[in-house]
Amino acid sequence: MASAVIHRLLCLAACGAALAARAEGIVPEPLPDVHVPGFAFPESEATLTGWVAAASRDTFGAAPAVANIHVHGWGLWTALTAETKQVVDGQPLRVFETWLATDELAADPATPLVTRPRHRAPLRTLKKMSIASERPADPIADPADDPEPVNRVLGFVKFDPTAAAHIARQQLLRAAALDALLDGGAQSIPPFPATALVVKPVFQVIHAADLIDGRYFALKVWSGPPAIPQAYPPAQWPGCVWLDLVGGGNGHGAVDEFPASDGSSRTDETTYPLASIVSYRLSAADADALNQGALATKAAAGDTAVLVAMHVAGREIARWTWQTFWWTPAPDFPPAPSSRAIAGRRPAQLRGAPRHYAMAIAYTLFAPDQPYVGGENVGAPVYAYNPWIEARFAPSDLPDSQSLIDSSGRTLANNTGAQTNCLSCHVRANYNPRLRATAPRFAGLRYTDLGDAQFVGTLQVDFLWSIARHAR
Ligand code: HEC
Repeated sequence: MASAVIHRLLCLAACGAALAARAEGIVPEPLPDVHVPGFAFPESEATLTGWVAAASRDTFGAAPAVANIHVHGWGLWTALTAETKQVVDGQPLRVFETWLATDELAADPATPLVTRPRHRAPLRTLKKMSIASERPADPIADPADDPEPVNRVLGFVKFDPTAAAHIARQQLLRAAALDALLDGGAQSIPPFPATALVVKPVFQVIHAADLIDGRYFALKVWSGPPAIPQAYPPAQWPGCVWLDLVGGGNGHGAVDEFPASDGSSRTDETTYPLASIVSYRLSAADADALNQGALATKAAAGDTAVLVAMHVAGREIARWTWQTFWWTPAPDFPPAPSSRAIAGRRPAQLRGAPRHYAMAIAYTLFAPDQPYVGGENVGAPVYAYNPWIEARFAPSDLPDSQSLIDSSGRTLANNTGAQTNCLSCHVRANYNPRLRATAPRFAGLRYTDLGDAQFVGTLQVDFLWSIARHAR
C-alpha cells in the first residue's frame, strides 16, 4: 500500500518535471505579420511567378516586378529577424532562432518535437559536400579542415514550424523513408507546403580571450567579387572593420583597408558597435556543444557569436524563393551581388541590427528566364551568392558546371563561387543512395531541366540538399 503511494508520488514528480521541462522549452514560432507594405506571406504562387517572369523580361513591367521581388525578400528578412518574447540565458530570441535545426529533427524524426530544448541549437561546421563521401574520387576540401577559422562555415539549417511538421509527417530525415519512395518508383519526395521556410544562418565566434584591448575584434569585410573569377574565401578579403564589444565606435561605412593585427590601424570611423550586428553571448552549454564538434575550437562561456550571413529559401513557388543576407558596413551602398537599388527598398519596419545587412536574390537564373522543363542554357546570367558561404568555391567544388556564351559572344566558365546562383545549384538536389554516376552534382550558374534523365535512379528532394545529406 505504502509502496504504491510512494510509486504514485514518484510518478507525479517525474511527470511534473517532464511537463515543466516541456513548458519551459522553446516554442517554434510561425512567421509574424510585420506590416511591411507590399509584403504578404505566403504570397500566391501565380502572383510571385508573374513577378518572376516579368522581372526577367525586358518589358515595361520589369521594373515594378523587380521592386516587388526586392520588397518580398526584405519582408521575409524583417519577419525572420523580429524579436520574440521568448528569452534564453537572458537574451531574447529572434523568430528564426526558435525554429528546429536539422540535427534536432533528425534525432527523433517519428515524433515531432513540439518545443525545442531550452538552449540554442549547437553551432556546427556545415559541410560543403556529402557527395564527396559518396564519390571519393572528387577532390573536395571540407571547410571543417580549413586551417583559417575565418573560412569555416559555422551555423545550422533550421525549418519553420510547417516545414518541420512536413519533415516529421513524411519522415524525410529517415533514409528508410527516402529509400521506400525510391524503391517504389517515386521521382521526388512529397513537396513542402507553400508556407515552408528554411534558413541557413552562419556565424563567426569571437573569443573573449582574443579581443584587442579586451574589446575589439577584426571582422572581415566583403567588398565585391574578384576581378578575375576565382575562389575567394574570407581569409583573402583584404579589409576589415573593428567590432567594439563594449559598444563604442562611430562607423558609418568606413573599412580598415590595411588592418594591423595589433589593432594599431583602428580608428573610430572603422569601429562599429556590437549592436550593429545580430549576435548572442554563448552560454557554458553553447560553448561545450561547439567544442565537442570536430573542430579544435576553444570556445568559452561569454564568447560572442555574430551573424555574418544567412540564406533563406521559401516554398511559395515551385522553384522556391532564394534570398541571402550578409552584414555590411555601409548598408545603403552594398557591393555586388547586392546593389543600391536593393538596399533602397528596405522597409521602414526593418530596424536595428538587421537593417545593417545586404541582400542578394535568385528567383531566376537568366534574363529572360527559362521554363522548369525543356529550357536551355542561354540568356544573361543572374549571379546571386553569399560572400561568406559560396564565394570560396573553386572549379573543383562545382564539378557539373557548364559554360555559357553571353550576348557579346564571350564565353563565361561559370565555375567559381561568384558565378553561382542559389536556384541553379538547388534545382539539382537529389538523394542518390544507389551512387548513380550520372546523378546531378554541384554546379555554378547553368540551366538544369527538372525532368533531366540525369535524375533517373535518384530521388529529387524538393530543392533541399540538406534532406539528402542529413537523412539517416
Ligand atoms: C553549389 C551549390 C550551392 C549553391 C550555389 C547554393 N547552395 Fe544552398 N545549399 C547547398 C547544400 C549542399 C546545402 C546543404 C547544407 C547542409 O547539408 O548542411 C545547402 C543548404 C541550403 C539551405 C538549407 C536548406 C537546404 O537546401 O538544405 C538553404 C536555405 C540554402 N542552401 C539557400 C541557398 C541560397 C539562398 C543560395 C544562394 C544565395 C544557395 N543556397 C546557394 C548547396 C548550394
